[in-house]
Amino acid sequence: MRFPQHAALIAVLMAGTSLAAPVFAKEQAATPAHASSQAGAEARADALVKAMTLEEKLQLVHSYFPPLAKPQPPIAMIPSAGHVPGIPRLGIPTLRESDASLGVANQVEQRKGDVATALPASIATAATFNPRLAYEGGAMIGAEARAKTFNVLLAGGVNLTRDPWNGRNFEYLGEDPLLAGVMAGAHIKGVQSNAIVSTIKHFALNSQETGRTVLDARIDRAALRESDLLAFQIATEIGKPASVMCAYNKVNGDYACENDWLLNTVLKQDWGYKGWVMSDWGAVHSTQKAAMNGLDQDSGQELDDAMYFDKALASAVKDGSVPMARLDDMVRRILFGVIDSGLMDKPVPDSAQPIDYAAHAQVAQRAAEEGIVLLKNKGDILPLAKTAKKIVLIGAHADVGVLSGGGSSQVRSVGGAPVEIPLTTGAAASFARITWHASSPLQAIRALAPQASVTYLDGSDPKAAAEAVRGADMAIIFAWAWRTEAQDPESMTLPDKQDALIDAVAAANAKTLVVLESGGPVLMPWVDRVPAILSAWYPGQRGGEAIARILFGEVDPSGRLPITFPASVDQAPRSEPAGLAELHAADARRSAGDKTVYGMSGGVAPFTVDYLEGAEVGYRWYAAKQRKPLFPFGYGLTYTSFTYANLKIEGGAKLTVGFDVTNTGKRTGADVPQVYVEAKSAAGTRAYRLAGFEKVSLSPGEMRHVSVTVDPRVISRFDETAPGWKVDAGAYPVVVGHFAGDAALKGTATVDAQSARP
Ligand code: BGC
Repeated sequence: MRFPQHAALIAVLMAGTSLAAPVFAKEQAATPAHASSQAGAEARADALVKAMTLEEKLQLVHSYFPPLAKPQPPIAMIPSAGHVPGIPRLGIPTLRESDASLGVANQVEQRKGDVATALPASIATAATFNPRLAYEGGAMIGAEARAKTFNVLLAGGVNLTRDPWNGRNFEYLGEDPLLAGVMAGAHIKGVQSNAIVSTIKHFALNSQETGRTVLDARIDRAALRESDLLAFQIATEIGKPASVMCAYNKVNGDYACENDWLLNTVLKQDWGYKGWVMSDWGAVHSTQKAAMNGLDQDSGQELDDAMYFDKALASAVKDGSVPMARLDDMVRRILFGVIDSGLMDKPVPDSAQPIDYAAHAQVAQRAAEEGIVLLKNKGDILPLAKTAKKIVLIGAHADVGVLSGGGSSQVRSVGGAPVEIPLTTGAAASFARITWHASSPLQAIRALAPQASVTYLDGSDPKAAAEAVRGADMAIIFAWAWRTEAQDPESMTLPDKQDALIDAVAAANAKTLVVLESGGPVLMPWVDRVPAILSAWYPGQRGGEAIARILFGEVDPSGRLPITFPASVDQAPRSEPAGLAELHAADARRSAGDKTVYGMSGGVAPFTVDYLEGAEVGYRWYAAKQRKPLFPFGYGLTYTSFTYANLKIEGGAKLTVGFDVTNTGKRTGADVPQVYVEAKSAAGTRAYRLAGFEKVSLSPGEMRHVSVTVDPRVISRFDETAPGWKVDAGAYPVVVGHFAGDAALKGTATVDAQSARP
C-alpha cells in the first residue's frame, strides 16, 4: 500500500477549484481551472432567474419537512429531511434532501429494507489522516444517495472540537483547522463527484449541543478566522460545496442564519462564495433580517416558529422590505449550486436503482481499519498470535455488533440493527435510539482464529467476568460511551460501572485489552492497569471485521488522534457544557407538567458561551497552558517503528519542510509524520500550529523523503483591521514529530513578511 504524497494529493483534490485560496503577496497566483465553467454556471443561473415568475422564485427559497408539511407535496420520493418542488418547465429539478455525514441517513422513513452503507463516524475518518479515504467515503455515499433518488446531501460537518464532551464530536473531523478542512473538503468533493449537491455545516460555532438553538457563542473575530472559520475556508476551497448550512446558535449576538458578518462579509464577500446558504432545520427566526443578512433558503420550514420564507417573504418582497434584487440573488445562488455541481445536467433517477452494497462495505472497512488508533501496547501484547487458545470478549454487545452515534446522521445500515435501545429522556429522545450495527467482533475474531475458544460475556457481573478470563491468552473488554446529536453527556466517565468492570478483569488477567467504542475521549482511571488500549470510535458497519484484523496484525494500526484525550475534565477550557443550569431548569419545569417547554429550544432559557480559548483550540490550548493530556493530538502507535532524519527547511516567501521517514521495525506499517510551527496568534501569544502532515506506508527498512509546503494561513495571524492574513517576517521554530508536543526533529524557518486578502 502506498499513499500519494499529501501535497500532491491536495493538489489533485484542489484541481477544478475555482474558489482558490487567497494569494499571498510574493506567491504565484494560479489560474483557477474551474473558473470558465463557473462563469458558465453563473450565466445559466442568471438566465433562468430572468425567465422565472415571482411564484416560481418563492417556491425555491424554502424546503418542506415531510412529516409536518401540509398538504404533502405531490412528489414520489422517499420522505427524508426535506424537499423543494422543482420547476419542470425550466428543467429545474426537485431538490431531495437527506442527511449524509456517515452514509445515507433516513430518519423519517423507517421502512424495513431501506438501508444504506454505514461508514465509521467522521472522527474515525479524520483519524486516518488520509484525505483519499475521506474522498472515497464521500463518493460512496453520493453514489448511494443518487441511486436512492436523493440529490442534496446534508454532509460536510466540520465544526472544530472545542470541548471533548460535545455530543456531536463523532460527526466532525477533530480539533485542527488544517486536518478538518482538508478531510471535509475531500469528503465533499467525493459526494459531489456524483453530480449532486453537498452542504458544508454547521456554519459556525455549533460547538456544543446543550442549548444549541438558544446559545450565543462569543468569540474574538480574528481568533475565529484562525480556527473554525479556517477549517470551513479550506474545506470550501477544496470541496466547493454547492451549499453552506448555517447553524442553530448565535455568534456574537446574532443567530448564525441571520448573521450579516458571517454570511455576507466572511462567506460571500471575503471568500467569494457563490453557492447558497440553507438554514439548519428550525434555525430561522426572521424574514427581513435573515434575507438581508445572507440566508438564501429556509430548510424544513414547518420546524420554525413561523414560516418566514413562505408567505411572509412574499409580502416582504411586495412591500419592498426585501428587494426583488435580493430574492433574485437567493434564487441565482441556489441555481448556481444546482448547475455547478452537475445536478442540473444529470438529474437523479425517478425511482430507486440497485446498489453494490458489497463493494461499498469495503469502503467502510478500509476507513475503519485506517481510523482505529492504538493508544497503548505495553509489552507488545498486540498483535495477538493466531495460535491463541482462549480469548474472552466482554461487554458492549460485542457478540452481535458495534455501537454507532445518534441523531440525524444515524444510518440504518445494511445488515440491520441487532440492538436498539429507545431513549426515554433528554433532548434527543424524540429522534435518537442507541443503535448497534450488525458487525460482530465475536464472529470476526472467531473467523481469524478458528482453533481458539472465543467466548463472550455481557459484563454485567464483574466477578463472573474476572473468573472467565483466568488463564485466557487475552481478555478483551469492549467499553462503550454513546453520544448523540442534541445532547451533551454530563460526564466523561464510562457509563454503567464499566470502570469497575475493567478493574476487575485487569486484576484477573495481565493480558487485558480495552477496545473503546466512543465518539471521542472518555476518562480512563484504569489506564495504568491495562497493558493495551485500542480506540475504535464508532467503527461503522464493518467495524467488527476491522477490529479483528487490527488485533491479529492483518493490518498495522495507522490511525492518529484527531483530538486530544484529556487526563481530567478540568484540563480542557470548559469542564462541562455551558447552559446546564438552564437545561436543568427546563427539565424540571417539564417534569412538573409545564406544557410550554417544548419546541426547538426545549424551553431552555438563552445563555452565552465564552470561547475564551479563541484560536487556541485542542492541542493548541494544551501547548499554551503547558498541560499534559492523557493522549495528545496526533498520537497513535503501530506494530512497527519510524524515525525521522535530515530536516531541511526552506523559508522566504514559501515555507517548505522536508525530511526522511524510515521504517525501522520488522513489519510493514503506515506513519503520519506531523510538522508543527510556532507562530504568533492575533492576540500576540505563542501559537503552536499543525502546519502539515502526510501518511506514508513503508515496508521494513524502507525510507521515504517527505516534503510539506505550508499553507501560509496556518502560520498567519488574522488582522481584523486590514482585514486579511499577515505573516510577520522572522524566525519560526519548526518541529517534526509523531504527535503534538513531540519534537523528533527541530529547526528554524526564516520567513518573509507576507499578506493576503481574507
Ligand atoms: C441537524 C443537521 C441536519 C438537519 C436535518 C438538524 O437537526 O443539526 O445536521 O442536517 O437536522 O436533518
